[in-house]
Amino acid sequence: MLGLTSGLTVLGFTVALIVHIKRFLPHEQSVQRRHDHGGEGSTDTSRNTLVATVTDAAERSGVARRSLFRRTAGLGAAVLGAGAGVVALGGFVRDPWDSGRGEDTLWRTPWRSHNGEKVYLRAVGDDPHTIVLVRPGELEAGSMMPVVPFRESERGHPELLAEAMHRADSPAMLFRLRPDVVVERRPDRRGMNFDDYYAYSRICTHLGCPVSLFEQQIDLLLCPCHQSQFDLGKHAEPVFGPAVRALPQLPIDVDDDGYFVARGDFTAPVGPGFWELEP
Ligand code: FES
Repeated sequence: MLGLTSGLTVLGFTVALIVHIKRFLPHEQSVQRRHDHGGEGSTDTSRNTLVATVTDAAERSGVARRSLFRRTAGLGAAVLGAGAGVVALGGFVRDPWDSGRGEDTLWRTPWRSHNGEKVYLRAVGDDPHTIVLVRPGELEAGSMMPVVPFRESERGHPELLAEAMHRADSPAMLFRLRPDVVVERRPDRRGMNFDDYYAYSRICTHLGCPVSLFEQQIDLLLCPCHQSQFDLGKHAEPVFGPAVRALPQLPIDVDDDGYFVARGDFTAPVGPGFWELEP
């Protein structure tokens, strides 16, 4: 696409130049013998005549008066320059559609396990160095708990613990829905919850604010920034406001020791949408 638009720009610029030459410049040819006046070069009269001839040709060609032509040529040059700039900067832009989906892509968050190590759901508390893992039964029905990922290999490493707390794509919410809440059955979400417990990204899919208000009577999540609402009965689909994508779901389970663990990464990239990301 970039090559095509750059090529079209060059083509348009060339066509404009050819049209100008054919329509506005005189076609007759004339030959004038040069006299060097005994080696002293052109006389003042000759120089003045040349200046007058060039000025007259420019005026008769209409270049000076044709602002449309000048603007078109300027626009073509500007587009060409912008295209060259984009080509130069393109190499620095990270491709989120990288098929390899390496560590740096938007599809990977700290919830993804490395080398099979368990990723626990850790309660977010006031002390970043206190590690509280979550078990079923610690939440009342109709309540929510903010959580971040934790690996045993991070224990004793304050910088890793702090990073897990502060990374923009880590925050999630663990919900325990009331028993009477009916959650829409979807084949692509089968096995992602544990009984009445569901986990979702806490980052709003509109512009990335933390979604922090839980209306437990109507099972809606509210984003305080622009009032988007997400329905937990519909796997956090947006039902009001400017957000158009559901909050990504975190698949969870309970391990043999009775702690919540992540079964994988979020179902979709976290936060605001970007090009080519389907709602
Ligand atoms: S950031 Fe949440 S609605 Fe705008």
